[in-house]
Amino acid sequence: MQQLQADFRDPRCAQRVGFREHDAPNQLVRILEERGFAVVTMADSGPPDAVLTSLSTALRLGDPYIPALYRYAETKDYSASFTDIRSDTKDRHPGFSTTAGQAWHVDGLLDDIGDIKTTILYCVRAAHQGGDTLLFNSLAAFAELREKDPDAAEALLAPSALNRRSTIPAIDVNATGPVFSVDEKGDLITRYTDNETCTWNFSAGPPGGLRRALAFLRTASDDPRYRLAVRLTPGEALIFRNDRLSHGRQPYEDKPDARRHLVRVLYADVPTAPSG
Ligand SMILES: [Fe+2]
Repeated sequence: MQQLQADFRDPRCAQRVGFREHDAPNQLVRILEERGFAVVTMADSGPPDAVLTSLSTALRLGDPYIPALYRYAETKDYSASFTDIRSDTKDRHPGFSTTAGQAWHVDGLLDDIGDIKTTILYCVRAAHQGGDTLLFNSLAAFAELREKDPDAAEALLAPSALNRRSTIPAIDVNATGPVFSVDEKGDLITRYTDNETCTWNFSAGPPGGLRRALAFLRTASDDPRYRLAVRLTPGEALIFRNDRLSHGRQPYEDKPDARRHLVRVLYADVPTAPSG
């Protein structure tokens, strides 16, 4: 897999693809395979749902995916296909509605590893200060760990390694699974999360392995080869492989009448293009 060799220090990681460019869908599919994410500048500043639908259609992504956590009566307020992410003091979602930073996670707390393959974040308005989206090439870090400390890597594959628990006040649900796995095609997939939703089972896998693995991943997530901050400007969309990268967010500050506003949409599918 090409992403295992990606180096996020490469200046090309900052490049944007114009949605109107000839061959944009093919370019995006190729870049996503190389590094797990791509940024596309959308042509029109129409309603976000319409802009996102034109992008998802071009990438043959099918219908948006509603995460398992948002299919309960208690969480139905968050079950829209297009989720507004902006500060809202009246709302109690721990991630969507605050200006706080977000630690490393993958989207889909209750969903099986690999189920949500694509996330798109479309920027309607940037923060006054901060608010970069952070990307961690957790798959490449895992591949490095597998070479250096196979027992630690094995612990991350254990089906009982990581429990994630909802921190939405209205609902108490959780799911256990491996931190990394191999899908039916033989490709690595990730569920690496290191935030307040996590309970680690340190008895999973070879003795001491999971503690060493976690220490390795925490260091690797600061390594500029594996970590990148992406600052979106209005009209730009970040597309990333939620099954191949972990992500987070820097804290931010809003101006009172100009709140940072992103729209998020998830897909169970992988982007493909006519020649891809
Ligand atoms: Fe997220």
